[in-house]
Amino acid sequence: MTARVPAKVNLQLAVGPPRADGYHDLVTVFHAVSLFDEVTVRPAERTKVVVTGADAGSVPAGRTNLAARAAVALAKAAGTGRRGKSAVLIEIRKRIPVAAGLAGGSADAAAALVACNELWGAGASPRELRAVAADIGSDVPFALLGGTAVGQGRGEQLTPALVTGVYHWVLAFGVGGLSTPEVYAACDRLRAARAGQADPPGPPQLDTALMAALRSGEPAVLGPLLSNDLQPAAVSLLPRLRQALAAGREHGALGAIVSGSGPTCAFLARDGAHARDLAVALAGAGVCRTVATVTGLTYIANVQCRRDAAGRAALLEVNPRAPGALPLTMASGVNMPRLALDALRGLPVPDHVDFREVAMVRFLDERFMDLSEVQKVAA
Ligand code: C5P
Repeated sequence: MTARVPAKVNLQLAVGPPRADGYHDLVTVFHAVSLFDEVTVRPAERTKVVVTGADAGSVPAGRTNLAARAAVALAKAAGTGRRGKSAVLIEIRKRIPVAAGLAGGSADAAAALVACNELWGAGASPRELRAVAADIGSDVPFALLGGTAVGQGRGEQLTPALVTGVYHWVLAFGVGGLSTPEVYAACDRLRAARAGQADPPGPPQLDTALMAALRSGEPAVLGPLLSNDLQPAAVSLLPRLRQALAAGREHGALGAIVSGSGPTCAFLARDGAHARDLAVALAGAGVCRTVATVTGLTYIANVQCRRDAAGRAALLEVNPRAPGALPLTMASGVNMPRLALDALRGLPVPDHVDFREVAMVRFLDERFMDLSEVQKVAA
Protein backbone atom coordinates (compact mmCIF):
# COMPACT_ATOMS: atom_id res chain seq x y z
CA MET A 1 0.00 0.00 0.00
CA THR A 2 1.52 3.30 -1.12
CA ALA A 3 0.63 6.85 -0.10
CA ARG A 4 2.07 9.97 -1.66
CA VAL A 5 2.31 13.06 0.50
CA PRO A 6 3.36 16.65 -0.14
CA ALA A 7 5.80 19.04 1.52
CA LYS A 8 4.48 22.30 2.98
CA VAL A 9 5.56 25.88 3.28
CA ASN A 10 4.07 28.36 5.77
CA LEU A 11 2.61 31.46 4.18
CA GLN A 12 2.21 33.02 7.61
CA LEU A 13 3.88 31.78 10.79
CA ALA A 14 2.96 33.87 13.83
CA VAL A 15 4.62 32.57 17.00
CA GLY A 16 3.43 33.42 20.52
CA PRO A 17 5.49 33.25 23.71
CA PRO A 18 6.66 29.83 24.97
CA ARG A 19 4.02 27.80 26.81
CA ALA A 20 4.50 25.83 30.01
CA ASP A 21 4.79 22.60 27.96
CA GLY A 22 7.70 24.00 25.90
CA TYR A 23 5.64 24.51 22.75
CA HIS A 24 4.57 27.86 21.32
CA ASP A 25 1.06 28.86 20.39
CA LEU A 26 0.93 29.49 16.68
CA VAL A 27 -1.26 30.91 14.02
CA THR A 28 0.03 29.61 10.74
CA VAL A 29 -1.14 29.20 7.17
CA PHE A 30 0.05 25.86 5.85
CA HIS A 31 0.34 25.50 2.09
CA ALA A 32 1.09 22.10 0.56
CA VAL A 33 3.36 22.18 -2.49
CA SER A 34 3.98 19.72 -5.31
CA LEU A 35 7.08 18.08 -3.87
CA PHE A 36 6.18 14.60 -2.70
CA ASP A 37 7.54 11.72 -0.65
CA GLU A 38 6.14 8.25 -1.25
CA VAL A 39 5.65 5.76 1.53
CA THR A 40 4.93 2.06 0.90
CA VAL A 41 3.98 -0.31 3.73
CA ARG A 42 3.98 -4.11 3.53
CA PRO A 43 3.36 -6.79 6.15
CA ALA A 44 6.63 -7.90 7.75
CA GLU A 45 7.98 -9.97 10.63
CA ARG A 46 9.02 -6.83 12.49
CA THR A 47 8.63 -3.10 11.87
CA LYS A 48 11.52 -1.71 9.86
CA VAL A 49 12.16 1.46 7.86
CA VAL A 50 14.10 1.62 4.58
CA VAL A 51 14.80 5.09 3.16
CA THR A 52 15.88 5.78 -0.42
CA GLY A 53 16.35 8.97 -2.41
CA ALA A 54 17.73 12.40 -1.62
CA ASP A 55 19.13 12.83 1.90
CA ALA A 56 18.32 9.16 2.70
CA GLY A 57 21.39 8.91 4.92
CA SER A 58 20.18 11.62 7.30
CA VAL A 59 16.78 10.03 8.00
CA PRO A 60 16.69 7.86 11.12
CA ALA A 61 15.81 4.33 10.00
CA GLY A 62 14.96 2.88 13.42
CA ARG A 63 11.89 3.11 15.59
CA THR A 64 12.51 6.82 16.19
CA ASN A 65 11.58 7.44 12.55
CA LEU A 66 8.32 9.41 12.54
CA ALA A 67 6.71 7.04 10.02
CA ALA A 68 7.55 4.04 12.22
CA ARG A 69 6.22 5.86 15.27
CA ALA A 70 3.04 6.62 13.36
CA ALA A 71 2.56 2.96 12.38
CA VAL A 72 3.08 1.80 15.97
CA ALA A 73 0.75 4.50 17.34
CA LEU A 74 -2.00 3.62 14.85
CA ALA A 75 -1.70 -0.11 15.63
CA LYS A 76 -2.17 0.74 19.30
CA ALA A 77 -5.06 3.14 18.72
CA ALA A 78 -6.85 0.78 16.34
CA GLY A 79 -6.14 -2.34 18.40
CA THR A 80 -4.42 -3.98 15.41
CA GLY A 81 -1.32 -4.83 17.43
CA ARG A 82 -3.23 -7.21 19.68
CA ARG A 83 -4.13 -9.32 16.68
CA GLY A 84 -0.40 -9.62 15.99
CA LYS A 85 -0.40 -8.37 12.42
CA SER A 86 0.82 -4.84 12.78
CA ALA A 87 4.52 -5.20 11.95
CA VAL A 88 5.31 -3.46 8.67
CA LEU A 89 8.21 -2.82 6.34
CA ILE A 90 8.03 0.93 5.66
CA GLU A 91 9.79 2.08 2.50
CA ILE A 92 10.18 5.85 2.22
CA ARG A 93 11.16 7.31 -1.14
CA LYS A 94 12.36 10.77 -0.19
CA ARG A 95 12.26 13.80 -2.38
CA ILE A 96 11.48 16.29 0.39
CA PRO A 97 14.79 17.45 1.91
CA VAL A 98 15.38 16.52 5.55
CA ALA A 99 15.38 19.12 8.40
CA ALA A 100 14.53 21.74 5.81
CA GLY A 101 11.42 23.46 7.24
CA LEU A 102 9.22 21.59 4.76
CA ALA A 103 7.71 19.08 7.24
CA GLY A 104 9.13 16.10 5.34
CA GLY A 105 9.26 13.85 8.41
CA SER A 106 5.70 14.81 9.32
CA ALA A 107 4.65 14.06 5.74
CA ASP A 108 6.11 10.56 5.98
CA ALA A 109 4.29 9.99 9.28
CA ALA A 110 0.99 11.07 7.72
CA ALA A 111 1.55 8.84 4.70
CA ALA A 112 2.36 5.89 6.98
CA LEU A 113 -0.88 6.47 8.91
CA VAL A 114 -2.99 6.49 5.77
CA ALA A 115 -1.21 3.53 4.19
CA CYS A 116 -1.30 1.37 7.35
CA ASN A 117 -4.95 2.20 7.93
CA GLU A 118 -5.69 0.83 4.45
CA LEU A 119 -3.29 -2.12 4.65
CA TRP A 120 -4.76 -3.33 7.95
CA GLY A 121 -8.31 -2.44 7.09
CA ALA A 122 -8.20 -0.71 10.48
CA GLY A 123 -11.04 1.60 9.53
CA ALA A 124 -9.78 4.58 11.56
CA SER A 125 -11.86 7.63 10.69
CA PRO A 126 -10.21 10.89 9.55
CA ARG A 127 -10.87 12.28 13.04
CA GLU A 128 -9.15 9.28 14.69
CA LEU A 129 -6.22 9.56 12.28
CA ARG A 130 -5.90 13.26 13.10
CA ALA A 131 -5.75 12.50 16.83
CA VAL A 132 -2.96 9.94 16.33
CA ALA A 133 -1.20 12.40 13.97
CA ALA A 134 -1.25 15.23 16.52
CA ASP A 135 0.53 13.00 19.05
CA ILE A 136 3.32 12.28 16.56
CA GLY A 137 4.08 15.94 15.76
CA SER A 138 2.54 19.38 15.40
CA ASP A 139 2.70 19.35 11.55
CA VAL A 140 1.45 15.79 11.01
CA PRO A 141 -2.31 16.60 11.05
CA PHE A 142 -1.76 19.13 8.25
CA ALA A 143 0.18 16.58 6.21
CA LEU A 144 -2.93 14.34 6.44
CA LEU A 145 -5.16 17.14 5.25
CA GLY A 146 -3.10 18.78 2.48
CA GLY A 147 -4.26 21.79 0.51
CA THR A 148 -4.03 25.12 2.29
CA ALA A 149 -5.21 25.47 5.88
CA VAL A 150 -4.95 27.67 8.95
CA GLY A 151 -3.22 25.96 11.88
CA GLN A 152 -3.67 27.01 15.51
CA GLY A 153 -2.61 25.69 18.91
CA ARG A 154 0.72 23.93 18.28
CA GLY A 155 -0.29 23.92 14.61
CA GLU A 156 -2.43 20.81 14.96
CA GLN A 157 -5.85 22.52 15.04
CA LEU A 158 -6.76 23.02 11.40
CA THR A 159 -9.29 24.91 9.33
CA PRO A 160 -9.18 24.45 5.54
CA ALA A 161 -8.73 27.78 3.75
CA LEU A 162 -10.60 29.12 0.76
CA VAL A 163 -8.04 29.59 -2.00
CA THR A 164 -8.23 30.33 -5.70
CA GLY A 165 -5.54 30.68 -8.33
CA VAL A 166 -2.31 28.83 -9.00
CA TYR A 167 0.80 29.79 -7.06
CA HIS A 168 4.22 29.07 -8.56
CA TRP A 169 7.10 28.80 -6.13
CA VAL A 170 10.84 28.28 -6.24
CA LEU A 171 12.27 26.43 -3.27
CA ALA A 172 15.95 27.00 -2.56
CA PHE A 173 17.40 24.26 -0.37
CA GLY A 174 20.21 25.13 2.01
CA VAL A 175 23.41 23.31 2.79
CA GLY A 176 22.65 21.24 5.89
CA GLY A 177 19.54 21.48 8.02
CA LEU A 178 18.24 23.46 10.98
CA SER A 179 16.80 21.85 14.09
CA THR A 180 13.24 23.05 14.75
CA PRO A 181 13.61 23.21 18.58
CA GLU A 182 16.85 25.20 18.17
CA VAL A 183 15.16 27.72 15.87
CA TYR A 184 12.27 28.20 18.32
CA ALA A 185 14.81 28.61 21.16
CA ALA A 186 16.75 31.21 19.10
CA CYS A 187 13.47 33.06 18.48
CA ASP A 188 12.83 33.19 22.25
CA ARG A 189 16.41 34.42 22.86
CA LEU A 190 16.16 37.17 20.23
CA ARG A 191 12.87 38.31 21.74
CA ALA A 192 14.28 38.26 25.29
CA ALA A 193 17.27 40.34 24.14
CA ARG A 194 14.88 42.88 22.68
CA ALA A 195 12.76 43.03 25.83
CA GLY A 196 12.33 46.62 26.92
CA GLN A 197 13.03 47.93 23.38
CA ALA A 198 10.18 46.18 21.59
CA ASP A 199 6.74 45.07 22.74
CA PRO A 200 6.64 41.46 23.97
CA PRO A 201 4.83 39.14 21.55
CA GLY A 202 1.09 39.03 22.13
CA PRO A 203 -1.13 36.13 21.16
CA PRO A 204 -0.52 35.29 17.50
CA GLN A 205 -3.13 36.67 15.07
CA LEU A 206 -4.23 35.47 11.66
CA ASP A 207 -3.36 37.97 8.91
CA THR A 208 -6.75 38.63 7.35
CA ALA A 209 -5.17 40.54 4.45
CA LEU A 210 -3.20 37.41 3.58
CA MET A 211 -6.38 35.29 3.67
CA ALA A 212 -8.11 37.80 1.39
CA ALA A 213 -5.12 37.63 -0.99
CA LEU A 214 -5.46 33.83 -1.12
CA ARG A 215 -9.14 34.19 -2.00
CA SER A 216 -8.32 36.75 -4.71
CA GLY A 217 -5.98 34.34 -6.50
CA GLU A 218 -3.49 37.15 -7.18
CA PRO A 219 0.13 36.14 -6.47
CA ALA A 220 1.20 39.81 -6.68
CA VAL A 221 -1.14 40.62 -3.77
CA LEU A 222 -0.04 37.59 -1.75
CA GLY A 223 3.74 38.06 -2.18
CA PRO A 224 4.34 41.08 0.09
CA LEU A 225 2.06 39.60 2.79
CA LEU A 226 4.10 36.43 3.42
CA SER A 227 5.50 36.48 6.95
CA ASN A 228 7.43 34.22 9.28
CA ASP A 229 8.23 35.08 12.91
CA LEU A 230 10.91 32.35 12.92
CA GLN A 231 12.80 33.98 10.04
CA PRO A 232 15.07 36.26 12.14
CA ALA A 233 15.97 33.23 14.30
CA ALA A 234 16.72 31.03 11.26
CA VAL A 235 18.82 33.82 9.71
CA SER A 236 20.70 34.35 12.99
CA LEU A 237 21.65 30.66 13.01
CA LEU A 238 22.49 30.58 9.28
CA PRO A 239 23.37 34.15 8.20
CA ARG A 240 23.84 33.18 4.54
CA LEU A 241 20.04 32.79 4.28
CA ARG A 242 20.00 36.59 4.07
CA GLN A 243 21.88 36.43 0.75
CA ALA A 244 19.53 33.77 -0.62
CA LEU A 245 16.46 35.88 0.24
CA ALA A 246 18.06 39.01 -1.27
CA ALA A 247 19.01 37.14 -4.47
CA GLY A 248 15.40 36.03 -4.94
CA ARG A 249 14.07 39.55 -4.43
CA GLU A 250 16.65 40.94 -6.88
CA HIS A 251 15.34 38.56 -9.51
CA GLY A 252 11.79 39.77 -9.09
CA ALA A 253 10.31 37.30 -6.57
CA LEU A 254 6.92 38.62 -5.44
CA GLY A 255 7.70 37.37 -1.96
CA ALA A 256 10.76 35.76 -0.35
CA ILE A 257 10.55 33.89 2.91
CA VAL A 258 12.20 31.22 5.04
CA SER A 259 9.91 28.19 5.08
CA GLY A 260 8.89 27.18 8.63
CA SER A 261 11.99 26.81 10.78
CA GLY A 262 14.19 26.78 7.64
CA PRO A 263 16.65 26.65 6.08
CA THR A 264 14.65 26.23 2.84
CA CYS A 265 13.72 29.61 1.30
CA ALA A 266 10.48 29.90 -0.67
CA PHE A 267 10.11 32.48 -3.46
CA LEU A 268 6.76 33.31 -4.98
CA ALA A 269 6.93 33.80 -8.75
CA ARG A 270 4.58 35.65 -11.09
CA ASP A 271 3.88 32.53 -13.15
CA GLY A 272 5.46 29.28 -14.29
CA ALA A 273 7.88 30.92 -16.73
CA HIS A 274 9.04 33.39 -14.07
CA ALA A 275 9.52 30.51 -11.61
CA ARG A 276 11.82 28.75 -14.09
CA ASP A 277 13.86 31.96 -14.66
CA LEU A 278 14.05 32.58 -10.94
CA ALA A 279 15.20 29.00 -10.31
CA VAL A 280 17.99 29.36 -12.88
CA ALA A 281 19.05 32.72 -11.39
CA LEU A 282 19.11 31.35 -7.82
CA ALA A 283 21.03 28.25 -8.85
CA GLY A 284 23.56 30.48 -10.64
CA ALA A 285 23.91 32.90 -7.71
CA GLY A 286 25.52 30.20 -5.55
CA VAL A 287 23.29 31.00 -2.58
CA CYS A 288 21.84 27.52 -2.12
CA ARG A 289 22.55 23.81 -2.56
CA THR A 290 19.84 23.18 -5.13
CA VAL A 291 16.48 24.56 -6.29
CA ALA A 292 13.07 23.15 -7.24
CA THR A 293 10.05 24.72 -8.90
CA VAL A 294 6.73 23.66 -7.39
CA THR A 295 3.12 24.77 -7.37
CA GLY A 296 0.88 25.25 -4.37
CA LEU A 297 -1.68 22.51 -3.85
CA THR A 298 -4.59 24.72 -3.01
CA TYR A 299 -6.64 21.57 -2.68
CA ILE A 300 -5.29 18.05 -2.83
CA ALA A 301 -7.59 15.16 -3.43
CA ASN A 302 -7.51 11.67 -4.75
CA VAL A 303 -10.06 10.49 -7.21
CA GLN A 304 -11.76 7.16 -7.28
CA CYS A 305 -14.44 5.96 -9.59
CA ARG A 306 -16.93 3.29 -8.61
CA ARG A 307 -19.59 1.42 -10.51
CA ASP A 308 -23.18 1.86 -9.51
CA ALA A 309 -25.66 -1.02 -9.22
CA ALA A 310 -26.33 -0.90 -12.96
CA GLY A 311 -22.62 -1.33 -13.67
CA ARG A 312 -22.14 2.22 -14.87
CA ALA A 313 -19.02 4.04 -13.70
CA ALA A 314 -21.16 6.77 -12.34
CA LEU A 315 -20.10 7.44 -8.80
CA LEU A 316 -17.07 9.57 -8.25
CA GLU A 317 -15.33 10.08 -4.95
CA VAL A 318 -12.97 12.95 -4.48
CA ASN A 319 -11.29 11.42 -1.50
CA PRO A 320 -8.58 13.56 0.03
CA ARG A 321 -6.65 10.65 1.43
CA ALA A 322 -7.23 7.44 -0.49
CA PRO A 323 -3.72 6.15 -1.08
CA GLY A 324 -2.64 5.04 -4.52
CA ALA A 325 -5.16 7.18 -6.30
CA LEU A 326 -4.30 10.25 -8.27
CA PRO A 327 -3.50 13.45 -6.37
CA LEU A 328 -4.75 16.55 -8.09
CA THR A 329 -4.20 20.23 -7.75
CA MET A 330 -7.43 22.11 -7.59
CA ALA A 331 -9.00 25.24 -6.30
CA SER A 332 -11.65 24.85 -3.65
CA GLY A 333 -14.64 26.93 -2.65
CA VAL A 334 -15.84 29.14 -5.48
CA ASN A 335 -14.24 26.81 -7.98
CA MET A 336 -16.04 23.64 -6.93
CA PRO A 337 -17.51 22.79 -10.35
CA ARG A 338 -14.03 23.17 -11.82
CA LEU A 339 -12.78 20.93 -9.07
CA ALA A 340 -15.21 18.22 -10.04
CA LEU A 341 -14.36 18.49 -13.72
CA ASP A 342 -10.62 18.53 -13.10
CA ALA A 343 -11.08 15.50 -10.92
CA LEU A 344 -12.83 13.69 -13.75
CA ARG A 345 -10.12 14.57 -16.22
CA GLY A 346 -7.64 13.02 -13.81
CA LEU A 347 -9.41 9.70 -13.44
CA PRO A 348 -6.80 6.95 -13.51
CA VAL A 349 -9.02 4.44 -15.36
CA PRO A 350 -11.78 6.40 -17.09
CA ASP A 351 -13.39 3.27 -18.51
CA HIS A 352 -16.26 4.84 -20.44
CA VAL A 353 -17.13 7.37 -17.80
CA ASP A 354 -19.60 9.83 -19.13
CA PHE A 355 -18.66 13.01 -17.32
CA ARG A 356 -22.27 14.12 -17.20
CA GLU A 357 -23.23 10.99 -15.29
CA VAL A 358 -21.17 11.83 -12.28
CA ALA A 359 -23.38 11.88 -9.27
CA MET A 360 -21.45 12.87 -6.22
CA VAL A 361 -18.31 14.51 -5.05
CA ARG A 362 -16.99 13.94 -1.58
CA PHE A 363 -15.25 16.91 -0.04
CA LEU A 364 -12.91 17.30 2.86
CA ASP A 365 -15.68 17.63 5.38
CA GLU A 366 -16.93 14.22 4.21
CA ARG A 367 -20.29 15.60 3.29
CA PHE A 368 -21.53 14.18 0.05
CA MET A 369 -22.66 16.80 -2.40
CA ASP A 370 -24.74 16.41 -5.48
CA LEU A 371 -23.17 18.25 -8.40
CA SER A 372 -26.29 20.39 -8.77
CA GLU A 373 -25.79 21.48 -5.16
CA VAL A 374 -22.17 22.27 -5.99
CA GLN A 375 -23.33 24.47 -8.86
CA LYS A 376 -25.67 26.27 -6.48
CA VAL A 377 -22.89 26.88 -3.96
CA ALA A 378 -20.73 28.39 -6.68
CA ALA A 379 -23.44 30.54 -8.21
O1 C5P B 1 5.62 18.93 17.37
P1 C5P B 1 7.00 18.67 16.91
O2 C5P B 1 7.61 17.45 17.56
O3 C5P B 1 7.16 18.62 15.42
O4 C5P B 1 7.86 19.91 17.39
C1 C5P B 1 9.27 19.89 17.38
C2 C5P B 1 9.77 20.98 18.31
O5 C5P B 1 9.49 22.26 17.76
C3 C5P B 1 9.15 20.99 19.68
O6 C5P B 1 9.82 20.12 20.56
C4 C5P B 1 9.32 22.45 20.10
O7 C5P B 1 10.62 22.70 20.53
C5 C5P B 1 9.14 23.18 18.77
N1 C5P B 1 7.75 23.64 18.57
C6 C5P B 1 7.27 24.69 19.33
N2 C5P B 1 5.98 25.13 19.15
C7 C5P B 1 5.20 24.58 18.21
C8 C5P B 1 5.66 23.52 17.40
C9 C5P B 1 6.96 23.08 17.61
O8 C5P B 1 7.98 25.22 20.20
N3 C5P B 1 3.96 25.05 18.05
